[in-house]
Amino acid sequence: MVIFDGDRRVFKLDTNNTSYIMGLTDEGYLGNIYYGKKIDTTDVVYTMRTEEHPFTPENLPGEKIGFMDRFPMEYPFNGTGDFRVNCISIKDSAGQEGLELLYKSHNIYAEKRKLVGMPCARGESSMSLDIVMSDEAVGVEVVLTYTVYEECDIITQSVLIKNISEKEFYITKALSACLNLENDVSDILSLHGSWARERHIQRSKINYGSYVTESLRGEPGHQDHPFIAVLSENCTKDYGDIYAMNLIYSGNFIAMVQKDQFDRVRTNIGIHPDRFNWKLEGGEAFQVPEAIIQYSHKGIGGMTRNFHDFFRSHLLSQKWVEAERPVLINNWEATYFDFDDDKLVQIASQASKLGIEMLVMDDGWFGHRNSDNSSLGDWYVNEEKINGGLKHLVDRVNSLGMKFGIWFEPEMISPDSELYKKHPEWALSFSDREPGLCRTQYMIDFSRPEVVDYVYERLYEILSSANIEYVKWDMNRPIAEVASLSLPADRQGEVLHRHVLALYDLQERLIRDFPNLLLENCSGGGARFDAGMLYYSPQIWCSDNADPIERLMIQEGTHLIYPLSTTGTHVADSPNHVNGRITPFDTRADVALTGTFGYELDVTRIPEEERDKIPAQIDKYKKYRKLIQTGDYYRLASFRENSRYDSYMVVSKDKNHAVIIYVQVVTDSNVLSKKLKLCGLDSEKKYIIDNKEYTGSVLMNVGYIMKPLKGDFKSVVIEVNSCN
Ligand code: DGJ
Repeated sequence: MVIFDGDRRVFKLDTNNTSYIMGLTDEGYLGNIYYGKKIDTTDVVYTMRTEEHPFTPENLPGEKIGFMDRFPMEYPFNGTGDFRVNCISIKDSAGQEGLELLYKSHNIYAEKRKLVGMPCARGESSMSLDIVMSDEAVGVEVVLTYTVYEECDIITQSVLIKNISEKEFYITKALSACLNLENDVSDILSLHGSWARERHIQRSKINYGSYVTESLRGEPGHQDHPFIAVLSENCTKDYGDIYAMNLIYSGNFIAMVQKDQFDRVRTNIGIHPDRFNWKLEGGEAFQVPEAIIQYSHKGIGGMTRNFHDFFRSHLLSQKWVEAERPVLINNWEATYFDFDDDKLVQIASQASKLGIEMLVMDDGWFGHRNSDNSSLGDWYVNEEKINGGLKHLVDRVNSLGMKFGIWFEPEMISPDSELYKKHPEWALSFSDREPGLCRTQYMIDFSRPEVVDYVYERLYEILSSANIEYVKWDMNRPIAEVASLSLPADRQGEVLHRHVLALYDLQERLIRDFPNLLLENCSGGGARFDAGMLYYSPQIWCSDNADPIERLMIQEGTHLIYPLSTTGTHVADSPNHVNGRITPFDTRADVALTGTFGYELDVTRIPEEERDKIPAQIDKYKKYRKLIQTGDYYRLASFRENSRYDSYMVVSKDKNHAVIIYVQVVTDSNVLSKKLKLCGLDSEKKYIIDNKEYTGSVLMNVGYIMKPLKGDFKSVVIEVNSCN
């Protein structure tokens, strides 16, 4: 529900459990008044501190800058006295950088407008609010758009910047959202990592000054994540206040938390202003990506479940949310570049007998690519490896009763490629310097429309040539040389955002032209696991590290925000190829259960006793697949926190079924059984676990007795069913 109280000049956005309130001063400044538990009045303007002390420029013109530096500006602007972290900065054609955005008009309407050229949440059965702010001196209009998703306690915010003058100006910063909070939050939650170690959770203290999490790599990256949450000191997984922001964007980002001189906390998120400078001609508009904002008083777990419901109902393609994804086998860790059609058919033949449903041919099938130093851009099948061509191979795999999927890395060009020989100018490069190599490859220049069209033609032709039902879209290097040989000097700051827009354009074309195609995004593992990519692909490869113990932490961080059904999880070899850890085959499968289950090993070469276990592992996955895809996720214990064991459970929405995954990482000697307190059940209902009856209340308060497992890295999956 969205209302405007004209007497008080207050906007109130209500979800089922929260209220988000903004107010206008007499001058037309828009302030962020309140965000928290739902309240039933708009009588809160006094908290903007414009009533009790008439401390506004109209009443006290001599102290305007003091006002600007204290007021909780909803969309803070740069250069006119608000010295805290801001959201927008514009340099006019005279080189001046200073804005003063004042209220112009607003509009409340049903549903929402789709963002042009960008992914965003769908708006069915929601309400939206546009607030138009302007600075007539600069000639800019800024439309703040909010959409309210009542049932998931989520609000989205996007911004449209319009040049309403006749002269060009330059947007040097344009973030998506900002929250002005009081000093009742003390901690920060953010995600950090590296290649093969993505999205580990970090909880830190809010101190005076600024905390920044960011990416300048042209993608969110393995290192940081476009998410930030601030929380109360006592906030746990089960209760406490938490405010979170996530960004529907797949390029550079910044998220900041700043505690100011008055102990107030401001937090914001958006496209990183470094390496960004967008020229806007008179009459043009720039679309800022959408941010997802939420408040929960039900702790970190409450936030997680709101995000999961929101992504499943409003962002992911509805076609895939509940669809059964095929159990796949990918040949990357099985063969790396050393394969041919017969080897792939051998793997497929063995896999099909075990119940695996799809073969994915990974990197190395095109050009003359036999290692990672050539052929990107030459998207033609290497018939020396794939004898008889792609259709012949796909037909052979299909005849075994298996689907076929293929790997691409469309954003790259290898210096050793036919394409580069013909078009060296298609690599992103400074005009006076050789671009730097990473994995012996260059970024292709997507700010040239002819390059985007070439790449799409190649993808289209390959995908139309055979019965290909899945694509893995990879990206294996960050963007370093942010310059295009095709753009004028004053548009070089547009390269990175243009790259992201072209990526979205290509993926949009792909899912439009191949509506049944299952797209899985990937970036050297999980460097581009974000809400923007999830709009196009219902699943994303989570990490190149499939070691189940490392995966406990990667998946805990990923599932903090994203639904389990979106995470690419495979059973891989042991010793693990990345960290050498030796783990039981069953534990590898149990940890892979909470995702899009698959295999990443040579099924023709693993020990027979492991191969024999695969049909039962697949049956187990299929048994819980629906529950895991659609249920509510609860963390019970975190190995990251206790250094001993990890446990989580998924409960069906009707609270009749649940599954618990428990992994004992380190065995202790002479320990008692644990009382594992379950979550999310109905306290009144009776449940059966291992033929024993309990009430929900007992399981959640007293706990389920978890006997110590014998040995490190052991796991168990426990089924819970209601009996009434
Ligand atoms: C990185 C991916 O994460 C891997 O799964 C594999 O596809 C390689 N790239 C191929 O180059």
